[in-house]
Formats: sequence, C-alpha cells, structure tokens
Amino acid sequence: MEKVQSFIQDNKQRFLDELLDLLRIPSVSADPAYKEDVLRTADFVADALKKAGADNVEICPTAGYPIVYADKIIDSKLPTVLVYGHYDVQPPDPLDLWESGPFEPVIKKTELHPDGAIFARGACDDKGQAFMHVKAFEAMLAGGPLPCNVKFMIEGEEEVGSDNLGTFCKENTEKLACDVVLISDTSIIANDVPSITVGLRGLSYVEVEVVGPNRDLHSGVYGGAVANPINVLSSMIASLQDENKHITIPGFYDDVEELSAEYRKKMNEAPHSEDAYKRDLNIDATQGETGYTTIERASIRPTLDVNGIWGGYIGEGAKTVLPSKANAKISMRLVPNQSSDKITELFQKHFESIAPDSVKVRVKPHHGGEPVVTPTDTPEYMAASKAMEATFGKTPIPTREGGSIPIVALFEDVLGVKSVLMGFGLNSDAIHSPNEHYGLFNYYKGIETIPYFYKYYAELKK
Ligand code: BES
Ligand code: MN
Ligand code: MN
Repeated sequence: MEKVQSFIQDNKQRFLDELLDLLRIPSVSADPAYKEDVLRTADFVADALKKAGADNVEICPTAGYPIVYADKIIDSKLPTVLVYGHYDVQPPDPLDLWESGPFEPVIKKTELHPDGAIFARGACDDKGQAFMHVKAFEAMLAGGPLPCNVKFMIEGEEEVGSDNLGTFCKENTEKLACDVVLISDTSIIANDVPSITVGLRGLSYVEVEVVGPNRDLHSGVYGGAVANPINVLSSMIASLQDENKHITIPGFYDDVEELSAEYRKKMNEAPHSEDAYKRDLNIDATQGETGYTTIERASIRPTLDVNGIWGGYIGEGAKTVLPSKANAKISMRLVPNQSSDKITELFQKHFESIAPDSVKVRVKPHHGGEPVVTPTDTPEYMAASKAMEATFGKTPIPTREGGSIPIVALFEDVLGVKSVLMGFGLNSDAIHSPNEHYGLFNYYKGIETIPYFYKYYAELKK
C-alpha cells in the first residue's frame, strides 16, 4: 500500500492533467450534435484504461453510445470487482450562466474547496469520479499484484436513461460476472464528513400535453369562452400536491416504505446545517412535505416536480394570444417499494381523469428507474467504510440520497450482485447546473481511497 500511495503522490499533476483532457471533450449524450465527441470520449477512456495497464480493452457497440469494457483478471480464486461509471455528461446550458467554458476546465478556489476545484461539465458527474478509478487502478498495478480481479464498464448513456446498458448486461452476464459493483457517482456529506450512499431514489418521468382549440386564437376575441391550455395545465399541475405538499395521485403512497422512528432519528443525526443549505442556494426558506425534515424530504420521501413547461408566446414584447396547446415535463422521484411503471400508470390515469372537458390531454412516459437500498452488513460496505476511515481518519456515515442511478437495480436483477456507492462529490458541486465543479481534494482523496477498498474487500471476502 505504501508503494501505491507514494505512486499517487508522485503522479498527482499528471493525473490532473489527464482528467482535464478528458473534460475538454463535450460528451453530451442527450444532444445528437455532440455525437462525434461522445464517440471520441469512449476512445479516450479505452485508451486511458489501456495505458493504465488493463487487458481486454474493448469499445462495445450498442444501439446507442458504446460501452467501454476492460479487465485485469489475475486469479480466479480472488474476488472480482466490477467498476461502473459513465463518460457522458448533461447538456451544459444555460451557457450564459457559466463563468468559464463548460468544456474549458479551469481550477478555482471556493469556500468549500479551499485547495481548488476543477470547473467543467462532468468534472464531478461523472468523468472526474470515474477517472479516479482508472488512476487508482494504475497506481495499484505500479504497487504490486492486485488484491482482486477488476473489470471496468464505463458507459455513455447514463444521463439519458442507460437503456442500452440494460440490454448489454442481459447479453453479457458471463463477461460481467463479479462479486460486487463499485460505483463513484454520488456524494459525501462534506470534505471532513465522509459518508457512503446506501440508498438512491427511483424515477418516473413523463411528458404531458394539454390541447385546446385547433389553432392559436386572439385572446380578446375568444378569451373567456375557450379554455386556455396553459391556464388548464397550470391548475392541473397545482392540484397534484395539497397544502401539506402531499401528492394527490390516488394510490401514489400505497407502496411507500414507512421507516421506523428510530431509523429516522438516526438519519437526522447526520450533520446538516439548514442555514448553510439555504445560504448555498440563496433561498430564505426550505419547503416540503409536512412532518419531514430537509434530509428526509430529499432522500426517503417521493416527489413530484415540473422540470420544464412551455407554450404560448415567449418572445419580445406582448402578443395577445390564446395558445392552442401547453406542455410540461414532470419527474417523480420514487422510494422503496414504489415501482416506476406502476407510478407512471397511476399518474397517467389520474392526469387524464382530472382534465376538464374543454381540453384533451396526452401523457407520454419517458425512461424510469427503480429505487435501491444497499445493506451495511456486507463485506463491500465494510470494505468501503474501512477504506474511507483509512484516508479520512473518520468512520463514514451511511446516507440515503435523492438522486437516481437506475442501472443499480438492474445490476441486482440481471447480474445478481449488490453495488457499493462510494462517491466523493459534494451536493453543492453543481452537477447538472452551470459551473459544475469537483474539488481537487475530492479527486485525490478518491484515488487514495479506492486501493484501500480493494485491499479490505479481498481480506473480508477470505
Ligand atoms: N450521478 C447522478 C445521480 C446522483 C447524483 C446520485 C448525486 C446521488 C447523488 C446521475 O448521473 C444522474 O444524474 N442520474 C439521473 C437519472 C437519469 C435517469 C437521468 C438523475 O438522478 O436525475
Ligand atoms: Mn452520474
Ligand atoms: Mn447526472
């Protein structure tokens, strides 16, 4: 381990420079305009794995963007760790809110990152975090024989729902056979408060359309007599939550796991400053479901949020128009034991049922994903815990997080293995937002911690 850690210290600048090169490629999976760049990113990752010393490096084609696979199998008697990450990123817009180019990484100090943070789209989610694994692997090889067999699977469609990865896993169960999946694509509580993610929310995502008259109308000539789809959509959306911020879709809470008072008390003991939270977001008050704390609202409770809404005239000045239709994209975050398909169906039925006769509504389901909870009494959790303890000097706290990584539930179903969610980002790192960043402290801490995970995992599996 000493050799591994000193290799990391000796190569810090190069490890950073290589990540910056990766961040310069705009691998936006949602927008076809970036297709060549996304493909180039897969090449970059494959190349980095080769240079790091992996065998069997492959760029596996799919119906969408390719999956980069690599491995190093040293002994069939040793446990096998499958590292999962994604090289695609979210679209960078709105561009004008970035202080520097989203694909021109710069290092700047911030209040929470006094040692500096890398500002770029994907710096934290997930290029920076996935690349830590490539560099940790390189360092482990430099330090001597690996304690475990390692497989890498880095995909390019996580931000658009991982549809083709599901198929890939089903068709390659042998190739992907492993004892555990190791993922760094989540957060820690703070740089001096390490944590391990033990739960993620699921997702149900729909697009709705409300259609009124067959054409845009003069809002004076027809206004008052003909339904305005934007007005209708707004009140339909408003009715989806009551005054306690409880979601009103019948059956929505039927399968929601009620956690014990004891469990809830424990999770609320995790460090959280409501003031710092509000200050970071520049809001005067938080809000949410009555009877739950901010930590709970953002992790163990389901949600319904409009992600985008459009219709009518939004150009310069005023145009008096009664639009013919209005649209919205709506996400519902799910918790155990809700099912994405069932919730989508309940939403669809309910949304159609509350539409007034004056309009027609259409509900189009998008990708979804199931929630996950991972146990803490497993060798992988204990290995991650001991690894973080070794590098942070503190026992990490198990946390449930609000985001989703739909493929984790699928790993369990298709590969029959659990995942360990050992991420190193901060919730304030602005993932999916302008000025996304990743602390240098976090990047290096991740690289230093990962080799300990392998060491302890191999020991605990004996
Ligand atoms: N890495 C995130 C998920 C995440 C972030 C989990 C922070 C926990 C803490 C992932 O890349 C992501 O953004 N997932 C999407 C889901 C997907 C279907 C687009 C999400 O949560 O919106
Ligand atoms: Mn991610
Ligand atoms: Mn993401």
